[in-house]
Amino acid sequence: MNFPLHSRALLLALMLTGSAAFAADGAPKTAPASTAPAVRPGHAGIASANFLATNAGFEVLAKGGNAFDAAVAVASTLSVVEPESSGIGGGFMATLHIAKDNRDVFIDARETAPMAVNPRDYLNPDGTPNRDAALKGPLSAGIPGEPAGLVLLAKRYGRLPLSVSLAPAIRTARDGFKPDSRLLGAIREEQKNLERWPASAAKFLPNGQPPADGEIWRDPEQARTWELIAEKGDAGFYHGETAQKLVDAVHAAGGNWSLQDLANYRAKERAPIVVDYRGYRIVTAPPPSSGGVAIAEILNILRGYDLAKMDQAHRAHYIIEAMRRAFRDHNDYLGDPDFVKMPLDMLLSPFYADGLRQNILPDQATPSSMLPHGPAHDPGMHTTHFSIIDKDGNMVGITSTVNYVLGSTFVAKGTGVLLNDEMDDFALVPDQPNVYGLLGSKANAPQGGKRMLSSMSPSIVVGKDRSAVIGSPGGSTIITQVLEGILHFIDGDSAQQVAAAKRFHHQFLPDVVYVEDGVFDAATSAELKKMGYTLKPREPWGYMNVVTWDHRDNKLDAASDPRRPSGLGKVE
Ligand code: GLY
Repeated sequence: MNFPLHSRALLLALMLTGSAAFAADGAPKTAPASTAPAVRPGHAGIASANFLATNAGFEVLAKGGNAFDAAVAVASTLSVVEPESSGIGGGFMATLHIAKDNRDVFIDARETAPMAVNPRDYLNPDGTPNRDAALKGPLSAGIPGEPAGLVLLAKRYGRLPLSVSLAPAIRTARDGFKPDSRLLGAIREEQKNLERWPASAAKFLPNGQPPADGEIWRDPEQARTWELIAEKGDAGFYHGETAQKLVDAVHAAGGNWSLQDLANYRAKERAPIVVDYRGYRIVTAPPPSSGGVAIAEILNILRGYDLAKMDQAHRAHYIIEAMRRAFRDHNDYLGDPDFVKMPLDMLLSPFYADGLRQNILPDQATPSSMLPHGPAHDPGMHTTHFSIIDKDGNMVGITSTVNYVLGSTFVAKGTGVLLNDEMDDFALVPDQPNVYGLLGSKANAPQGGKRMLSSMSPSIVVGKDRSAVIGSPGGSTIITQVLEGILHFIDGDSAQQVAAAKRFHHQFLPDVVYVEDGVFDAATSAELKKMGYTLKPREPWGYMNVVTWDHRDNKLDAASDPRRPSGLGKVE
C-alpha cells in the first residue's frame, strides 16, 4: 500500500521502534488490560433513544440479566420502535467492559458485501453513479450483522436465554406501540420509496398510508423473525426459513444475495482501540470503524496542549486543528482489517501526533488546502446509540445502524426485516461521493465478504474517580460528538451536561466549522473568524446517550440527548 509522503518517514521510524497494541496490518495483538475500578455500583443506568427500549433493558435486568442481556433487549426493541435508525436488517458496533474479568472487548457486527457485489451495478448505463441503486432497494443492502452480533453478545457475555432478552421486542412488535413523531416523519418522508416494494408498503403503510398520530402500529412478521432467533440463535436468521425468504425477496427485486452469503456471516470480536488522556483510559472502536482511530489521533494531538488554561477561542482552535488532521488521515487509510493493511501503529502513535502538532500555528487556522489532500465528507445524521452500566460494573455502549433514514426502504417479504443501505458506506464508485459526501480510497472499495467503513464510535471512558459510556449517531459527526463528549466528561461534566453540551464539527473538507447555535459566544466566534475559520451554523445534530458512574459514591447517572423527545436515560 502507498502511504502519503508526509507519513512515510514517521512510519519507518515507528516500524523500527515498534509500539502499540496493533500490528501494522491492523490485526489486534492483545487487548491491553483494563484499569476499571473494583467497586460495583449496586444499581444500573440505561440511556437510549426510545423510552420503550430503555424500559425493555430494565425489564431484562429485573429478570436477573446483566448489562449485556439488557443490551440485547434494548437493541432488539429499537429495531421495532426506531426502525428508521437501526434494526434487525442492519449492523452494530459494541464496546464492552466485562467487570468480572476486568477486560474490554469490541464486537464488530458490521454488515458485509455479498460475494456477487459488482461495482457496475452502482453505475447508470452512461457511466454516471446510480445513487438510487446505492441507497434504495436490495442492491444497497449489505448482509446484516445485527442478529449474529446480538446472539454472540447474549451467548458469550449474557446470563439469560435469548427467549428472555428478546421477549420485550417480540411483545412490542406483536402487541404494537404508538410510533413517535420522528418515526412517523421518516415514514412520510420515505413514502414514495416504501411504495416501490409491496412488503415495505405492507409494513410501513397500513391501509396505504403512514400510521396516523397516536395509532397503534404492529409488526407481527418482525416478531416472528425475532422468535426464530430466540429459538434457534444464528440459525433462525442466517439459515432455514428466514434465510430463504431473505434471498428470494432480494432476488425478486433485482439484488444478488446468496444463501451462502448469509451462512458465511460472522460477528467478530476485535481488540478495541485504547488511548490514555489526562489520566483517563478511553476504550473505543477499531476498524472497520474509522471513529476510534480518529478519536485517538485527536486526543494524542491535544495531549500536547493545556486546554484548561486557554480562552474558549484558543481551546476551540486547537481542537478544530486536531479534528482537521485526523479527518484528513482517516479516509485515506482505513477499511476492513480483514482485507486491508492499515498503518495503525503510525496513526495511533504519540510520535505521529507530535509531528502533526508541529505545523499547528498558535493563532491561525491551517487551510485544509495546505495539507496533503484527502477526500471530502459531509455530515449525515442517522443511526442510534445506547449506553448501559449494570450493578456489577459491566459497561456496554452500542452504536447501531441501518444507515440512511429507514435504510434501503426495502422489506423482505414474509420476514418483517427492513434491509440496511450500508453498501453506500463503501467507496462504491471511484472518485464519487457517497450520501455523506465521502469519496474514500481503495482501502474501502467494495469486495465480496468485506465490511464497509463506519464512523460508529461507542466509547467507554475509565478514570480513577469516574467512568462513562458515551456514544451518538450522526454519520461523520459521530466522531467529533464523542470526542467532545469525552472532553466534557473529563472536565467534570455530568451525564446531562455531556449529552446537552453544544457542538462544533470540522472534518477537513469542506473546510468549515459547523456550529450549533450557542456553542461559541460572540467574542469567541469573532476571534475564531479572525484566525481564519469559516463558521457555518447548522441545525442541532446528534442523539447522544450517556451513562456515568462516580466511583467515590457509586452513583450512576443516565442522560438522553435533550435535542430529541423520545429518549430516556434512567437509573434504577
Ligand atoms: N452508516 C453510517 C456509519 O456506519 O458510519
